[in-house]
Amino acid sequence: MSTHSIRPELPELVPASAPGKAAEVLVVGTTAGGDGPELALADGVVDEAVLAELLDDLIAVGATGAAEETVRVPAPSGLSVASVVAVGLGDAQSLDADGIRRAAGAAARTLKGVGTAATTLSALDLGAAAEGFALGAYTFTAFRSAKTAPADDAAPVRTVELLVAAPKARETKATVARSTAIARAVATARELVNTPPNILSPAEFADRARQLGSDAGLKVEVLDEKALEKSGYGGIVGVGKGSSRPPRLVRLAYSGGKRGAASVALVGKGVTFDTGGISIKPAAGMENMTSDMGGAAAVVATVALAAELNLKVNVTATVPMAENMPSATAQRPGDVLTQYGGTTVEVINTDAEGRLILADAIVRACEDDPDYLIDTATLTGAQMVALGNRTPGVMGTDEFRDRVARISQGIGENGWPMPMPAEIRGDLSSKVADLANVTNNRWGGMLAAALFLKEFVADGVQWAHIDVAGPAYNTGGAWGYTGKGGTGVPVRTMISVLEDIAANG
Ligand code: BES
Ligand code: MN
Ligand code: ZN
Repeated sequence: MSTHSIRPELPELVPASAPGKAAEVLVVGTTAGGDGPELALADGVVDEAVLAELLDDLIAVGATGAAEETVRVPAPSGLSVASVVAVGLGDAQSLDADGIRRAAGAAARTLKGVGTAATTLSALDLGAAAEGFALGAYTFTAFRSAKTAPADDAAPVRTVELLVAAPKARETKATVARSTAIARAVATARELVNTPPNILSPAEFADRARQLGSDAGLKVEVLDEKALEKSGYGGIVGVGKGSSRPPRLVRLAYSGGKRGAASVALVGKGVTFDTGGISIKPAAGMENMTSDMGGAAAVVATVALAAELNLKVNVTATVPMAENMPSATAQRPGDVLTQYGGTTVEVINTDAEGRLILADAIVRACEDDPDYLIDTATLTGAQMVALGNRTPGVMGTDEFRDRVARISQGIGENGWPMPMPAEIRGDLSSKVADLANVTNNRWGGMLAAALFLKEFVADGVQWAHIDVAGPAYNTGGAWGYTGKGGTGVPVRTMISVLEDIAANG
């Protein structure tokens, strides 16, 4: 077992009515108006005259209020802090919760070396500001030795005072507690994704999932390679057999609902490294395939979060974990395997491995007769071709797909509904088996993968498949509350869907 932290540390988020003595910096929001920047309404938490002087100072140094712009000025007299960070919210008319979340994240990233900061962004949207600060402050330093570890003057902000009119109100406390829990879950998923693939083998991933699950009071079950073989999990065994580090299937169950409450199955792709197998990938960018367990990380973090938030719903996560390697024991193009449940699949391309492990897990998940099933995976490069690297593709049964996409857009992960055209299903036929794992053409690759998975979803289950190939891992620069590397997408989509199901069935 490794000693790396499973739950990353985040700044402490404290509601307050005014900056405390320890606060060094005040973070305020600015909007971009036709006549230059304006200070975003701070709801009485900062004096009017002080605000007017501050705005003059900000204009003098060229602040515009553009989204995520950060400008730091010495604090005007009358404020107890040393300096003010003004963070842009963009156009006031189009400001929404995720705009505040992104601004808070951008501000948090500038607060390196600050012990305590206070902010008025919380007066605009407390939950969004809290999440933005916590997520923006996340960094991954577990593998930096003293040579490059950040010094104290570059460490993430430790405490954020969230200025609000009623810091002691029950509702305030509940909102901050919920946002803290959500941010912790997102950071947990990020940490798993960021952990390098030599460390995070399937067995190590399963150990960490077990630990997270038992800490959250979940029922935990782990199938090792022998159990997988014996029970006929041919997809997971086939993908895993090229690696010296054998596969696992982890099941984490949370029972939060009374009799008759809705039940939701979560399934996440846990390929701890995807070389492509015998259908090997090109070298350029292959290191990014450390993120190929992003769906599994999100699912593990989400089921633990559902328990932490005490949601009135039953959730079972079924998480296949395998390493896709080429070797003398690897599966070959042309192999036929038998998925859990009996469907046979011709493996035309060993790099289309995600759907093979997911198919087993989906069949297992459906044995519990869930009302809903959400699976999520870094499944296809075609997702990025279709939607870019920040927009998850959402497929599935029409109604639930649209519901998941709408909720995802509402919380800023921006999942987009995509079709599963019936004619593409024909391209998955095999000359020798029930199905082939790829089509023989380049078109609609994300949709074809969804059509493959659809074959394994039981009738009557409301299903959503979220392809996060791009969105789970940020290979570019930091933006908003998203740093480089693992993003934790789609944890917030899934927890919001679970909350919606708990409330509305
Ligand atoms: N893990 C990849 C998909 C992926 C690509 C994720 C880029 C993140 C970034 C997946 O296993 C894969 O290799 N898919 C193939 C499918 C193809 C062989 C049908 C792909 O997208 O090329
Ligand atoms: Mn692959
Ligand atoms: Zn993959």
